Amino acid sequence: MDSFRNAQKHAGHERASGADAAMAELLELDAEVLSPYLTNVTSRLADLLDPVPARVLDLGSGPGTGSLALARRFPDASVTAVDVSPQMLHRLRERAAAHGVAGRVRTVETNLDEQWPQAADGQPYDLMWAAAFLHHLTDPHRTLTQALAHLRPGGLLAVGEMDFFPRFLPEDTGVGRPGLEARLHAVTNTRPPHEWTDQLTGAGFTVDERRPFVIRLDHTTAGPALNRYAQVCLAKLRLHAEGLLEADDLAALDALLDETRPHGIARRRDLTVRTTRTLWVARRP
Ligand SMILES: C[S@@+](CC[C@H](N)C(=O)[O-])C[C@H]1O[C@@H](n2cnc3c(N)ncnc32)[C@H](O)[C@@H]1O
Repeated sequence: MDSFRNAQKHAGHERASGADAAMAELLELDAEVLSPYLTNVTSRLADLLDPVPARVLDLGSGPGTGSLALARRFPDASVTAVDVSPQMLHRLRERAAAHGVAGRVRTVETNLDEQWPQAADGQPYDLMWAAAFLHHLTDPHRTLTQALAHLRPGGLLAVGEMDFFPRFLPEDTGVGRPGLEARLHAVTNTRPPHEWTDQLTGAGFTVDERRPFVIRLDHTTAGPALNRYAQVCLAKLRLHAEGLLEADDLAALDALLDETRPHGIARRRDLTVRTTRTLWVARRP
């Protein structure tokens, strides 16, 4: 490869790893702020699984928000985390070590559009987890069919999706016109929520549950990461809002994202996180 193409490839990798680092931060903040939701979901899975799972697979694990929550919930389970991104898996291994579960968490770098990872011991999995992931796949039906084949009969696949990007701001922020965040979402967040029931049954699963979780957390219930989470989420939407929002709204959003301002998102005490997640619990008959 000539040096120009080499440099281009290197720049591409740097952009990709920068994007993965930003996404990893967002996912980790999401899991920290929404930890009551994760606790709720993993506890529901514990109720539904008998016996407790020994082998868990996290599909599209990212930095391991699900892997670590499941490793905590099921202290005897071994967890395999699969992702196409080496940066995400590196971050996951660091976090697993920090949480004292590195010995039970294995990472596998695989593009699930291309191949299915084998269990280390060749045994089927008891529990699979796919959070904010299935919609990334080129052919979800094929991957769901492979998932079914590698689950034990009676084993569960938990699929989670974010129905819409979280909201944080009060109606009137005191900066610009009221209703800024609703207008921001109206122009940047136009796709309908993901729906997996038919795909799951089409792949041979029975759907035990399809549950929406309505999440409302304020400063006290969300904990100290709320401001940073809101800052990162709204900055991400700001990247897509250029040319779509009115100029005065863009200016108000920029003022709110300015971390030095007293009314800025980084310092406000009136933020609440409002979102809904849907969880499907599918079983191999
Ligand atoms: C939105 S993130 C969700 C991460 C994690 N499940 C969570 O909820 O925090 C989606 C993840 O899927 C991974 N991914 C996307 N396409 C993939 C593929 N074809 N095979 C494996 N992983 C993939 C990405 O690298 C990313 O880490």
